[in-house]
Amino acid sequence: MKKLLYIVVAIVAVVAVVWAFSGKSNATPNKALIAYFSATGNTAGVAQNLASATGADLFEIQPMAAYTAEDLDWRNDKSRASVEMNDRSSRPEIASRVENMDQYSIVFVGFPIWWGREPSIIDTFLESYDFNGKTIVPFATSGSTPTTDAAAESMRTIVPGANVMNGARFPNDVSADELKTWAGEWLK
Ligand SMILES: Cc1cc2nc3c(=O)[nH]c(=O)nc-3n(C[C@H](O)[C@H](O)[C@H](O)COP(=O)(O)O)c2cc1C
Repeated sequence: MKKLLYIVVAIVAVVAVVWAFSGKSNATPNKALIAYFSATGNTAGVAQNLASATGADLFEIQPMAAYTAEDLDWRNDKSRASVEMNDRSSRPEIASRVENMDQYSIVFVGFPIWWGREPSIIDTFLESYDFNGKTIVPFATSGSTPTTDAAAESMRTIVPGANVMNGARFPNDVSADELKTWAGEWLK
């Protein structure tokens, strides 16, 4: 009888250990977050469209100090955006955090293209969480830059442990249907 008790205790212990280790990652397969930064509203529109098309959670990456029109003057090399983007170590502060980032296995990261790549505040975002093993899918709006390839390449250097896709650049008026089809590749 005692032997049986020992065996039961041993089995319970093994199950508990296995359960504890398997619970180390709380990410639900294919649970997606859409996190975006938008200075003048274009990317916000696409992100909201993407969220309603997919049902994914939505988070706005809000700067601690909002960008004024003056800050965004790309013709002025002394403007805030110019100064930040000329300094690869610049990390503009973000006002709030994603609750329980652990639960997401896929994070769509949206932004306006600035000088061909992601704004520095996206680098702040990427360094604010543990993205190891997660899939990151960039999406962007832009005046004319046609892809997010250069942004993705830059983002990979910030989060080498993540699986950063090339992603896509969309026109401001992209349809919900198109976004749903595009995102479907990662939300199967
Ligand atoms: C500082 C700055 C730099 C920009 N650089 C580029 C660029 O390199 N290529 C491009 O096509 N558009 C560029 N744009 C235009 C924005 O990418 C475009 O207007 C975008 O849709 C703005 O998105 P938002 O409204 O979400 O901020 C730039 C805009 C700003 C303010």
